Amino acid sequence: MKMDFRWHGSIVENISQNTTDLLKVEHKESYAAWLQYKNIDDQTLVNNYKQWCGRISILGASVVIESAKKELLLGISSMLGIEPDCSSEPMQASLVLATNASIVDLVDVDFDQLNDDGYVIKTVTSGGKNTIFLVGKNDSGVLYAAFHLLRLMQNRKNLQQLDILENPKNQLRMLNQWDNMDGSIERGYAGNSIFYKENEFSDELNRIEDYARLLSSVGINGIAINNVNVHKVETDLITSRLLPKVAEVAGIFRAYGITTFLSVNYASTITIGNLSTADPLDPKVRQWWKDKAEEIYSYIPDFGGFLVKADSEHRPGPFTYGRNHADGANMLAEALQPFNGVVLWRCFVYNCLQDWRDRTTDRARAAYDHFKPLDGHFHDNVILQIKNGPMDFQVREGVSPLFGAMENTNQMLEFQVTQEYTGQQRHLCYLVPQWKEVLDFDTFAKGKGSEVKKVVDGSLFQYKYSGITAVSNIGNDYNWTGHTLAQANLYGFGRLTWNPDLSAETITDEWIGQTFGHDELVKELVTKMLLKSWSIYEKYTSPLGVGWMVNPHHHYGPNVDGYEYDVWGTYHFADWKGIGVDRTEKTGTGYTSQYFKENTDLYEDLKTCPDELLLFFHNVPYTHKLKSNVTVIQHIYNTHFEGVEEAEGLVETWSQLKEKIDQERFEDILKRLQEQANHSKEWRDIINTYFYRKSGIKDEKNRKIY
Ligand code: GCU
Repeated sequence: MKMDFRWHGSIVENISQNTTDLLKVEHKESYAAWLQYKNIDDQTLVNNYKQWCGRISILGASVVIESAKKELLLGISSMLGIEPDCSSEPMQASLVLATNASIVDLVDVDFDQLNDDGYVIKTVTSGGKNTIFLVGKNDSGVLYAAFHLLRLMQNRKNLQQLDILENPKNQLRMLNQWDNMDGSIERGYAGNSIFYKENEFSDELNRIEDYARLLSSVGINGIAINNVNVHKVETDLITSRLLPKVAEVAGIFRAYGITTFLSVNYASTITIGNLSTADPLDPKVRQWWKDKAEEIYSYIPDFGGFLVKADSEHRPGPFTYGRNHADGANMLAEALQPFNGVVLWRCFVYNCLQDWRDRTTDRARAAYDHFKPLDGHFHDNVILQIKNGPMDFQVREGVSPLFGAMENTNQMLEFQVTQEYTGQQRHLCYLVPQWKEVLDFDTFAKGKGSEVKKVVDGSLFQYKYSGITAVSNIGNDYNWTGHTLAQANLYGFGRLTWNPDLSAETITDEWIGQTFGHDELVKELVTKMLLKSWSIYEKYTSPLGVGWMVNPHHHYGPNVDGYEYDVWGTYHFADWKGIGVDRTEKTGTGYTSQYFKENTDLYEDLKTCPDELLLFFHNVPYTHKLKSNVTVIQHIYNTHFEGVEEAEGLVETWSQLKEKIDQERFEDILKRLQEQANHSKEWRDIINTYFYRKSGIKDEKNRKIY
């Protein structure tokens, strides 16, 4: 998918002073996110770093290498207050940037150990002279090495004896923008789109470039730049009217090693192609897409491919023509194949009109039921994009049983960085610990040790293409993410796509160091806040894995029966006796049977089913005792009281940092935490009252339930 683009001068030239430039000045810290590059005040460290950073030699020339150089110059000058000399002469340099090809004589690197995008950072001492080499397998590797070095410096690490070898574990490390061309963002909680405004592309290309820098610094290498729900106006993105603009944006991302993809309307042949059908087996339809692909690649030679939401939530798809998902995806794959493009075909397919009173139909079953029978029927440039859970990015749900179930079909994992169901960036909910649980989940597809991370890094079944993607959480707010602490979710997502084995603690520590500096109290308290936040949010919202309980459509705020596709208010089956969805084989929807045996057994049996997923898998009386020896109803009361206390605790904890954080970020975060604490009370009261009224069972501790 990658092509070699040589350096032809500045990517973003002659941009006049615009809003983005002002943001950088007026909201400096908020805007810079984790690329603060704050002036280092420890003079000994500055002197130490200076010996490495004074003379940079750059071997090779390309837009990507140029980005590496630009970033290093920015970081070094800002942290150390020096302007390094740059040359292409490695002998005199203290910092050398190079790729595989240009370096073989200078430093001993085993290139066979490097994958695409991998790199080595090595301190070499020879003839009394010390040099740090940043060597990439390809140009992107050099850029990642540069970001790595800057990360070390921002985290005040010693550069004396570096011997680092890094390979990304995942081939595709992507983000999906759910941006619409009118400037709105579906499930966006941080302002409007940075890409589009009033049905045109934004002219603030430097904002897009700064986004590319943030993404590249954590290893992201692909982006789909429009919403998966493709309306009429976005259907035009693949026409000659808008392709020059797409190409311009792709050029910005290219310079940061990021490949551009587009979400496409499955029925484009009808909407813009003057055909009366989108039947994937119709020769005219097939030819139209082939011609279209050729046209797109004439504008963007390294275009990544198409992201497709078909036959889901009223989007068009192959079902209309009696065809299946493989027919649909393969038709597009065939068109992209000559150009090495791929189809990212989403598995978020279910019948949103199902009757929830019927205990045998189950939305959770849908993706597996639709796709599993098609294993092996997809072309090898199709990748199935599967949400982490079978429902929809809930605060807690099972892991999708599709992972590991399709040995002969490329798969990738879809997370949601944007906090649709997890507090919409008004509540703090750091999702790295949740994502870690999903990645470490053992599918048992090939026996013990078949974790999701091994399915999606392609190693379990030797997939040709695979990886991890997520719905982005950024918008044009001056801090990108609405809640400044939500920047940590974007950072953490990227780092996990590079290496799913990084611990939540390591990622958190890195992020805080770069974002807020190195004060011990800041580190200690922010770490605690972030790492506890998912559990806090879960406590005062939907209990024990049952999901939803949010207001319909916008999905913010408590509403126990609010699930929009369930007009009967029964999706959780709460009545006077008990609650929960029976998904067992024996008496329920049979969903548990979609897992491999070890997990089927685990979830099927009430005795072994983990408490936190109890109501996702079982319908139990309120008096059922959890493993903690507390009844379900008492657990609901307890956690909702605790959740509020802990949310209030977040405000207190953060308040202790007043003198240690710049005013803007301190106050922005404080305001959000206060809102969260207030709102958590509403959650507590609505949920507790609902279950008190349903069950008639009093709180053992006699607390006030409204
Ligand atoms: C959720 C979300 C929608 C989105 C959909 C998807 O249902 O609420 O806004 O379009 O997921 O992933 O396609």
